[in-house]
Amino acid sequence: MGWNSWNKFAEKVDAKTVKEIADAMVSNGMKDAGYVYVNIDDTWEGKRDAQGVLQPNEKFPDMKGLADYVHSKGLKIGIYSSPGPQTCAGFEGSYQHEEQDARTWAAWGIDYLKYDWCSAKTVYKEEEMPAVYKKMGDALKASGRPIVFSLCQYGLRKVWEWGAASGGNLWRTTGDIEDVWKSMATIGFDKQTGLEQYAGPGHWNDPDMLEIGNGNMDEVEYKTHMSLWAMLAAPLIAGNDLRSMADEIKQILTNREVIAIDQDKLGKQGFRVSKEGRTEVWAKPLEGGDVAVALFNRGDKAELMIATWADLGLNGKHVVRDVWAHADRGKIKDLFEAEVSSHGVVMLRVSK
Ligand code: GLA
Repeated sequence: MGWNSWNKFAEKVDAKTVKEIADAMVSNGMKDAGYVYVNIDDTWEGKRDAQGVLQPNEKFPDMKGLADYVHSKGLKIGIYSSPGPQTCAGFEGSYQHEEQDARTWAAWGIDYLKYDWCSAKTVYKEEEMPAVYKKMGDALKASGRPIVFSLCQYGLRKVWEWGAASGGNLWRTTGDIEDVWKSMATIGFDKQTGLEQYAGPGHWNDPDMLEIGNGNMDEVEYKTHMSLWAMLAAPLIAGNDLRSMADEIKQILTNREVIAIDQDKLGKQGFRVSKEGRTEVWAKPLEGGDVAVALFNRGDKAELMIATWADLGLNGKHVVRDVWAHADRGKIKDLFEAEVSSHGVVMLRVSK
């Protein structure tokens, strides 16, 4: 769980913004809710010095100082590079400097690396990808500092089959998310199906960073976005301006009952159990025998939806808790019924 600069700031990210985001993460309750990583995406990179050591550009005058600052807040800091000569935004990449860069980041105190294929396609064949990623995975391990390794290559070559063996802790499964319903819904509902078996503690499918609070979806849709990512046991990397978010956005990002489902210790990725028209019921097994259940309505009008215990593999009476309403719904037998608004969700924790 954390934050990344790209979705909101893109090339406008700088050290001052990163510090203010870290401050905000502490003061607005996100840190207490479990958000830890403050991640700088592309456009921080400068040139290499005469020894080949990668320098930050003028937007980041003192990376070590910035890392110290973020650490002083009880948070961790992430950075971004590419295995190619250039990053996606055209800045210096790590090609032929992999070990040197890993040592530089470790010396700065970096805790997380997002490693983005980009121009690597101009110097490597696609089938070399697992080895190219492993090269950096090994370099990070040899750096002497624990650094989370985030693979970003848009799901090419079934990364879920080899990402963990390359040292990856998470891997993007698709192209870039956009702050629109169709993009979020296609990625979240459709493109993660079948990948459940590859997710687990230490190695996760990554449906991309959150767009919650960036303004092009409404509150109902952002709740669905958060719910779906939690059902998927996805990394929760906020992508909005944490310094100025509306209270309803903060409530979505910090809903502890939803976060507990995402972060559940079993580490199981949820999946669709039934589908009718534009409505879908999803389930996610939780520690101790509980089940998270989400009733999603992708359609354009409200629908009466039913989740049956039979579809969920349950029988008998179960205690039902609505994790958005923060309300107990009693001990229920056979099925749960609710009206779900257009693009909305009703999300439950069901316990014996
Ligand atoms: C790619 C990645 C994005 C972002 C940009 C930065 O598009 O998928 O998440 O990192 O590059 O240039």
